[in-house]
Amino acid sequence: MKFFVDTADTAEIASLAATGLLDGVTTNPSLIAKSGRKFLEVIAEIAGLTDGPVSAEVVATTTDAMLREADVLRKIGDNICIKLPLTMDGLTACKKLSDDGVMVNVTLCFSANQALLAAKAGASFISPFVGRLDDIGFDGMTLIEDIKMIYDNYAFDTEILVASVRHPIHVLQAAKLGADVATMPAAVIRALAHHPLTDKGLAMFMADWAKTGQSIL
Ligand code: E4P
Repeated sequence: MKFFVDTADTAEIASLAATGLLDGVTTNPSLIAKSGRKFLEVIAEIAGLTDGPVSAEVVATTTDAMLREADVLRKIGDNICIKLPLTMDGLTACKKLSDDGVMVNVTLCFSANQALLAAKAGASFISPFVGRLDDIGFDGMTLIEDIKMIYDNYAFDTEILVASVRHPIHVLQAAKLGADVATMPAAVIRALAHHPLTDKGLAMFMADWAKTGQSIL
């Protein structure tokens, strides 16, 4: 399972990239606004921090304008993945870009039928937002299960990129369902490594080791 970080905070991305566990980055207009930086500048910096896909989202709402924005974004680097909204205009742009060999992430997916359309349009990634579904009383993970079944039924190549991940249980459930990727805040990636018994066990080992008076180096 691939791990993407969902942020435009370049210091955080650099720090996670150094672990060797980071497979890509997703951004969206809200995250760019939060960074307080210029969109094209921050995307170029992020593209240099990872070899994996960097999702850069268009802000146009018509196919032609989306394609013009995509032209600007894809020139930033070979690892730029054009992020398009799941609308008919977005799907039309997705089909054209995919036919041209451009990586596309179709975002704002909230139903399995939407995911089916994105796969038919040749998307490299579909981004179902599990957290936002949970927020309104729907089970986000049921959507992942449905998409996985449909994509397997037809052997679609589109990767299921679980988005709007809020906590480690989302990651666990997505992994159990066989999702290809999870994109999550840096804090969630770090939380995956944490267990109180690991901390307690390590403290005990360190205390006992100190009693031996030895050193390895
Ligand atoms: C995914 O690509 C989106 O940027 C993101 O996962 C949305 O998450 P949110 O619902 O926490 O804003």
